[in-house]
Amino acid sequence: MLATWLYRNVLRPGLFLLDPEDAHDMVGNLLPASAPLFSIGKDAIFSDKVLSALPRLCVNLANTTLTSPVGLAAGLDKNAKFVALWPQFGFGFTEIGSVTAEPSLGNERPRLFRLPEDQAIINRMGLNGDGAKAVAQRLAAIGQSQSLGTVALNIAKSNLPGLHGQLAVHDLLSTFQRFQGSDLAYVTINTSCPNTHDGALAEISEFREILKAIDAANHRNFPLFLKLSPDSSDEFIAMIFASIKALDIEIAGFVCGNTSVSRENLRTPAQRLNSIGRGGLSGLPLKERMLAQVIKLNKLKEPQQQIIACGGIASAADVVAAMAAGASAVQLYTALVYHGPFVVMEILADLALALAQANATVTDLVANEKLAAKIL
Ligand SMILES: Cc1cc2nc3c(=O)[nH]c(=O)nc-3n(C[C@H](O)[C@H](O)[C@H](O)COP(=O)(O)O)c2cc1C
Repeated sequence: MLATWLYRNVLRPGLFLLDPEDAHDMVGNLLPASAPLFSIGKDAIFSDKVLSALPRLCVNLANTTLTSPVGLAAGLDKNAKFVALWPQFGFGFTEIGSVTAEPSLGNERPRLFRLPEDQAIINRMGLNGDGAKAVAQRLAAIGQSQSLGTVALNIAKSNLPGLHGQLAVHDLLSTFQRFQGSDLAYVTINTSCPNTHDGALAEISEFREILKAIDAANHRNFPLFLKLSPDSSDEFIAMIFASIKALDIEIAGFVCGNTSVSRENLRTPAQRLNSIGRGGLSGLPLKERMLAQVIKLNKLKEPQQQIIACGGIASAADVVAAMAAGASAVQLYTALVYHGPFVVMEILADLALALAQANATVTDLVANEKLAAKIL
């Protein structure tokens, strides 16, 4: 479509000349002024035929009805600065964060790298953010004057060396408690950030204590999701399921998944990868691994638990494949960098038309390989 063609061929080459984090900050600064552009894009992409098919995209996630199954993944709006804008992109929900207890500058720059040959990114931001108090206050302030759409919160353990045991429990719990007054569709506990001192919350006993504490403090009954890593071993996932069962805690679902430390099967030369160094890989190379993990989780989870697929989603066909594998919704981040701000609307238009042709709804797609084969 024209909007995405213009982004890929005109805007992206210019943006890619800039340092990735400078480009990211510049786009962020321009976002608030871009609302008129979105209504022009919307008129161009959402023809009458698409508009009449859009209700087919409504889906229920954690007892909230979403207007679209495509959400913004955590990491892009860490500080809830742009929450009112994301619905205009076509996002059906926004996951803010990861939010940590205290403000943090994160790791040293450079910490964000593009891999254009792979349509991927490597980042080691290290959980930079304004801290729970400031983010919760901002969310409340914006919510007073603007409609926010569906907002979810992603929380992570602060990126500090030696934050273990009860200190870690207290740290995550204090973040969670800051948002007790917020209107949240669900809360994701990020068990899998590869860019912190500890990486995953691999200590299963610590994970159990954190779950117990958050569950006990969950007076608003926010549905709880766990964000897994594409690198999580079957044993680690089995331990997570065993812990949930043993603690008898209600987990609404899983986000599959975070970025990966793997560098396998990339087109980017090894020399460039070595010069970048450590960090989490996102984008296209994650897609097949995400699908495999969604299929695995769909077999392990309880029927009422839901999966949010995340990793390399960039087209309507990707959404169909993820939902057929068992996801109830999807999220994306890296596709915005490679395909531009209209990619979500284009996904929605393609998906709505395909569903209309099959006389189906997006909910019909969940774990339905047969319908997916008809649509793809
Ligand atoms: C620059 C960057 C920062 C991220 N920060 C976070 C974060 O703070 N918390 C989190 O749970 N995931 C974070 N992620 C991971 C994304 O939410 C998502 O799981 C991952 O990028 C895979 O999706 P994608 O291929 O669509 O980008 C980040 C990703 C990127 C690229």
